[in-house]
Amino acid sequence: MSGHLVGVGVGPGDPEHLTLKALRVLQEADRVFVPETDSATPGKSVPASPVGRAELVVAPHVDPARIERLTFAMRDDAARAGNWDRAGAAIQAVVAAGGTAAFATIGDPNLYSTFTYVAHTVRELVPDVRISTVPGITALQDLAARSGTVLAEGDERLALVPWPAGAEQLRRALDDFDTVVVYKGGRHLPEVLDVVRDAGRLEEAVHGEQLGLPDERLGAAGSRDGTAPYMSTLIVPARRDGLRGGRLRGTP
Ligand SMILES: C[S@@+](CC[C@H](N)C(=O)[O-])C[C@H]1O[C@@H](n2cnc3c(N)ncnc32)[C@H](O)[C@@H]1O
Repeated sequence: MSGHLVGVGVGPGDPEHLTLKALRVLQEADRVFVPETDSATPGKSVPASPVGRAELVVAPHVDPARIERLTFAMRDDAARAGNWDRAGAAIQAVVAAGGTAAFATIGDPNLYSTFTYVAHTVRELVPDVRISTVPGITALQDLAARSGTVLAEGDERLALVPWPAGAEQLRRALDDFDTVVVYKGGRHLPEVLDVVRDAGRLEEAVHGEQLGLPDERLGAAGSRDGTAPYMSTLIVPARRDGLRGGRLRGTP
């Protein structure tokens, strides 16, 4: 009987965002896998490599002997596939012996997470493995909280657009949705902000980078110059008339 792989969301950076459920699962696991590097700031490690952000959150709560680092250097497609294969093999060794492997990941494990690809790999290696996830606080939730931004109310629609999907997708989201969140746009921030400015929505937009880390920055997007680290999130809030419950239409 094969074991269990759990993807554990540990939040975007602030160690206090680790949930009680995540803590229990990490403490009960036979082995806790953490990404050794992430792509937060190429050429600049926060913290100094090889300790990744997930490990920083997890390390105070887990016996170091049970923590195992996995390297995920995001280079080309072949390197990526190799990283997933190596991670899958390391986890296979635990779950094929009937153990529980926890994979700690930044934010939520079901939102643009390496965990998805690792779990896919492990499923191919160990078809009867049990796979589950523990939700984590996402970067967009942290930025909303820290900047005092309401993400949605009433009948408002919320879109999450990864910048690599293209500028046109962001333009369409800004036309079609109320609140729009942009992920993975930090290194192209001037272009991202141009699109938001063209849509006439820059004034209300908020930007946060390296949230929960020592070099965190957040504030009005309109006053942010230049590029930002990969770990950057932008929220363009819905336009509201300021009336309480003004968007509560037809809710039963
Ligand atoms: C690969 S995705 C991971 C998303 C993550 N699983 C989540 O639930 O938020 C990476 C993107 O998440 C956002 N992100 C993650 N951590 C962040 C942080 N500490 N500060 C700002 N943005 C962050 C950025 O948009 C970044 O480009």
